[in-house]
Amino acid sequence: MSESVPIEHWPKRLEAALEQCDTFQRVHVIRETDSTQDAARRLNVLPGDVVVAWSQTGGRGRRGRSWSSGEEGAAITFAIEPGQSERLALIGAVAAARAAEEHLGVQVAIKWPNDIYAQDLKLAGVLVEQSDAISLPAIGMNVLQTTWPPELTDKAISLRQLGAEVDRVDVLASLIVGMDHAIQTDEQELIEFFKARDCLKGVTRLFRSEDRDIKGRILCIEPLEGILIETEAGEVWLPATKSRLLDSSDIL
Ligand code: BTN
Repeated sequence: MSESVPIEHWPKRLEAALEQCDTFQRVHVIRETDSTQDAARRLNVLPGDVVVAWSQTGGRGRRGRSWSSGEEGAAITFAIEPGQSERLALIGAVAAARAAEEHLGVQVAIKWPNDIYAQDLKLAGVLVEQSDAISLPAIGMNVLQTTWPPELTDKAISLRQLGAEVDRVDVLASLIVGMDHAIQTDEQELIEFFKARDCLKGVTRLFRSEDRDIKGRILCIEPLEGILIETEAGEVWLPATKSRLLDSSDIL
């Protein structure tokens, strides 16, 4: 792989991506931060701002999990007008999948609600945080990693491990353009994009829905509405906002 693009060149490269955008106008490039989400808050970002970090040391994922990124991942937070909460998780997943596919040349999978998978391993994740003043959808994508800490071995994969020799700044540029494009995309088209990559359909999984655990074969996922599963007692509809997929860490 050629030398990576130095951070001094990131603003110019990312500003070129902003020129293709309607929603995003300004990028903050930070050398090191705990989390681009917290950096965005400290910067008092406005709708249309984007925050990226060369090194993210304390990234977080959904449901209080940590997100490993360091200097090998792409970490990006977008600032958007508040009040679009329902669609943002889907928009983030579509943007991340499109960006990954642009560099891989093959289709990736989306695991509901918004994890991006390739070869059954996690490539990227989406986190949406909100306040009354701002929505902060964020994407973390694994780009340069070739080794993983023990807890992520056999769980995560990077673009490089999938054969894409791409610089992180080019992935960030794709994510900016991809997010802008997904925001402008018609809802039905977002849903169809999701369904074409849904890797859970037909699979039997355990869900927690309104404080009860329920297992069933997934018949259909409507990403903004809910999941239809087939249980031993018949078909059950799980509303998206009140249900989540349980994984091995919940079951231990
Ligand atoms: C998940 O899969 O649980 C979501 C991961 C989201 C990680 C990104 S990296 C940029 C932003 N800053 C963070 O601290 N988290 C998100």
